[in-house]
Amino acid sequence: MTILVTGGAGYIGSHTVLQLIEGGFDVVVLDNLSNSSQESLRRVESLVSKAIPFVEGDINDKAVLSSLFSRYDIDAVIHFAGLKSVGESVKNPIDYYINNVSGSLQLLDAMRKANVKKFIFSSSATVYGNHSPVPNLEHYPIGNASCPYGTTKVMLEQILSDYAKADSEMKIIALRYFNPTGAHPSGLIGEDPNGIPNNLVPYISQVAIGKLAKLAVYGGDYDTVDGTGVRDFIHVDDLAAGHVCALKYFDSMSGYEIFNLGTGHGVSVLQVIDAFEKASNQKIKYEIVARREGDIASSWADATKAEKVLGWKAKYDIIDMMKHTWNWQKQNPNGYESQ
Ligand code: NAD
Ligand code: UD1
Repeated sequence: MTILVTGGAGYIGSHTVLQLIEGGFDVVVLDNLSNSSQESLRRVESLVSKAIPFVEGDINDKAVLSSLFSRYDIDAVIHFAGLKSVGESVKNPIDYYINNVSGSLQLLDAMRKANVKKFIFSSSATVYGNHSPVPNLEHYPIGNASCPYGTTKVMLEQILSDYAKADSEMKIIALRYFNPTGAHPSGLIGEDPNGIPNNLVPYISQVAIGKLAKLAVYGGDYDTVDGTGVRDFIHVDDLAAGHVCALKYFDSMSGYEIFNLGTGHGVSVLQVIDAFEKASNQKIKYEIVARREGDIASSWADATKAEKVLGWKAKYDIIDMMKHTWNWQKQNPNGYESQ
């Protein structure tokens, strides 16, 4: 079975490509390398001792897509390719809608022409918006995303649901990721953000390695266990495993299905710092400052549907996540750039 992985050179994509190959799938990666380096795939190749077919190209490029689908006999597509920066999407919404929405439509159109009927989409907990009760359940209403990035995910879920209704042979799974973190235990692949990280764990990890002076903790007055924000951090290898389970589930499903991928537990920012300190034996300098605009107090998943239906459950805890993040950061202080 051959799987096209768009965005496969990226953070979640590279970990998923590794598990797909380990699970016996053939993989083709399409990535325009706008937010990644081909070095991630070279490292996956070294872990599996196998070459990974790679097409450098854009999901918005019809010619690239049609030549890819005619060259390879693709059975299913896992679609990670997309831009994901919240702040950037507020500044350049048009770029986000073109890249994420229009790009996904071009991809679906190329699949339709090539008669490819299985699709897994990278969605996000951000679709639940700012007022959803926690834990979030898949059937809760979505929308009111706090930024254009989030809106692209809401729009694409709607498009996918419509498409699955219109074509009874189409099988589509949307996976709503909570807060992915961690790295492969080897330390060979991991998260390599551009510039100063926006997300908590990469920021902490760059404070620990000495690249950043101190962490700003956004808000100490939320109605949570210790006043700081609470999130459902999920190990990237658990997420990757969720994609393999979803692919296997295609045999027993039809239409459109949504699954939360989270641990089902919330962890506060201060608890993350504490876990990182324990896992790395490093002291993290931090200061509690004002809340960040657009943030919510708490977000965590009800992950029981994925467990019941896909047979998937997260196995790593926050200490493992921090241990593996630190292992990756220590071995690759400059990410995939040559050191
Ligand atoms: P990433 O930026 O590391 O990976 C995305 C990959 O897609 C990159 O390799 C990038 O070069 C590629 N890409 C972007 N636009 C493209 C285009 N037009 N054509 C071809 N390739 C393109 O991000 P990630 O963290 O691995 O996220 C993967 C997916 O998961 C994204 O769709 C993201 O929105 C979604 N997601 C991520 C998170 C998270 O916290 N990381 C949370 C929820 C959902
Ligand atoms: C953010 C995005 C979300 C996106 C997700 C994954 C916002 C509002 N939401 O989620 O749309 O899907 O990233 O890319 O940006 N924190 C600090 N200091 C920091 C960074 C973060 O205290 O320097 C806190 C935040 O206030 C929050 C928690 O850490 O309480 C997690 O933040 P972050 O890692 O950015 O993820 P989210 O905000 O949950």
